[in-house]
Amino acid sequence: MSNRRNFIKKTAAGIAAMGIALPGLGAIGKEIESHLTTPLPLPGQKSVMGLACEPLGTVRIGLIGLGMRGMGAVSRLLNVEGVEITAVCDILPKRVKKAQQIVIDKGRPEPAAYGESDEHWMKMCERDDVDLVYACTPWRYHTPNAVYAMKQGKHAAVEVPAAMSIDECWQLVDTAEQTQRHCMMLENCCYDFFELATLNMARNGVFGEINHAECAYIHDLRWLKFDKETGYQGMWRLKWNESHTGNLYPTHGLGPVAQIMGINRGDKFEYLTSMSTNQLGMSLYAENKFGKDSPEAMQKYELGDMNTTLIKTSNGKTIMVQHDTTSPRPYSRIHLLSGTKGIAQKWPARKIALEPDPHSWLDPEKYDQLIKEYEHPLAKKVGEKAREVGGHGGMDFIMDWRLIQCIHEGLPLDQNVYDAAAWSSIVELSEISERDKSNSVKVPDFTRGVWKDTEPLGIISD
Ligand SMILES: NC(=O)c1ccc[n+]([C@@H]2O[C@H](COP(=O)([O-])OP(=O)(O)OC[C@H]3O[C@@H](n4cnc5c(N)ncnc54)[C@H](O)[C@@H]3O)[C@@H](O)[C@H]2O)c1
Repeated sequence: MSNRRNFIKKTAAGIAAMGIALPGLGAIGKEIESHLTTPLPLPGQKSVMGLACEPLGTVRIGLIGLGMRGMGAVSRLLNVEGVEITAVCDILPKRVKKAQQIVIDKGRPEPAAYGESDEHWMKMCERDDVDLVYACTPWRYHTPNAVYAMKQGKHAAVEVPAAMSIDECWQLVDTAEQTQRHCMMLENCCYDFFELATLNMARNGVFGEINHAECAYIHDLRWLKFDKETGYQGMWRLKWNESHTGNLYPTHGLGPVAQIMGINRGDKFEYLTSMSTNQLGMSLYAENKFGKDSPEAMQKYELGDMNTTLIKTSNGKTIMVQHDTTSPRPYSRIHLLSGTKGIAQKWPARKIALEPDPHSWLDPEKYDQLIKEYEHPLAKKVGEKAREVGGHGGMDFIMDWRLIQCIHEGLPLDQNVYDAAAWSSIVELSEISERDKSNSVKVPDFTRGVWKDTEPLGIISD
């Protein structure tokens, strides 16, 4: 623990010296009022809604964090044409070497190596041959990584959630607006096949007007939270579980339904209320795995096993978001869309029911026909390769391909910084509400009003 404290202190001091605010783990729940006040933009700062940047022939990527996600990203990204990985960074030298080898084995030039200190990633962001910085680091680094990268004139891609506090959400928005750089949270679940098909159906009016959605991240991750071999910071996920409650990982479920429901584009999150169960599962797991008297079993964990958050949108719609990474149950993101003409859901089983027979689920033949009819243009174009390459069943490849296509062609990205901020803001807001007997909490308007005049994201055709 003391090592970790020293690490946080050292990192915070280093980052502060570079002019980036790094919120401490204790920041959540304090100064709520100031967190929720919309900061005044700097002179010259302008909206990045619909931002189109200069097209780039080749996208040169620098990666920070080469653990489970980042190492996979190295080979993943090289499957996309027009990508070079010019630099890789991890605090663990053997991971840097392994990532370099992956690139070399693909017949590409060896990327430059970074990771000599906690702050060495900053030097990587400063390189002239990096166009896009991709952060696959633990959560507390995402915003500092992205903010610093944008300040160096780079586009930022960041793993989920992009920010862990409202302050961080505003840092991302303000920096993107000041630098006019892209900042995309790589919410891969928006590119999964069923999610894309239901986006296509929604835009074609199959469900009528969608008034309610349900989504989740239900994933039994007890093994990972207690995995002592994870990396430099050891069990960093567990540390968040020790000191925070609410929904620590909202975006996998929320991203796809927010896109479909036009959040930040014609509608926005207005307020939410959140409630968590007590914590049982982690203590029980720790007791069974490490023994009753082990530090892990004696540790107090703040994170309730199940968190349920209800969001009301400005147009009067509702979204339920759940988070449970502790209970022994099958994986689910729910992905339920309920409209005036019908309903679709992905978990626990893919089903669709529509007028004029909304009381029975479509039989398998009709379901398959509908799914085929509304196969998404991106899935049609690159779905086969995506399935072959893999990466969460192919959605990672579709996401990578689309991101690179947008940068190649100078198109606005499907997920912009406002999406990153709004979807990630649930982390802190759910905790504030849960700790305040589930009183409702207003969701900041990160677009500063621009959502009203912005069209919902289209079908995303190529
Ligand atoms: N989108 C998805 O499907 C998906 C899946 C898995 C993980 N993730 C996200 O990816 C991120 C990483 O998760 P993970 O499971 O790979 O974690 P991990 O612990 O396996 O990897 C993190 C890596 O970052 C490195 N690191 C830490 N501090 C650093 C620093 N100062 N400089 C350079 N490197 C540093 C660590 O050494 C480690 O190798 C998390 O945000 C997680 O939520 C997303």
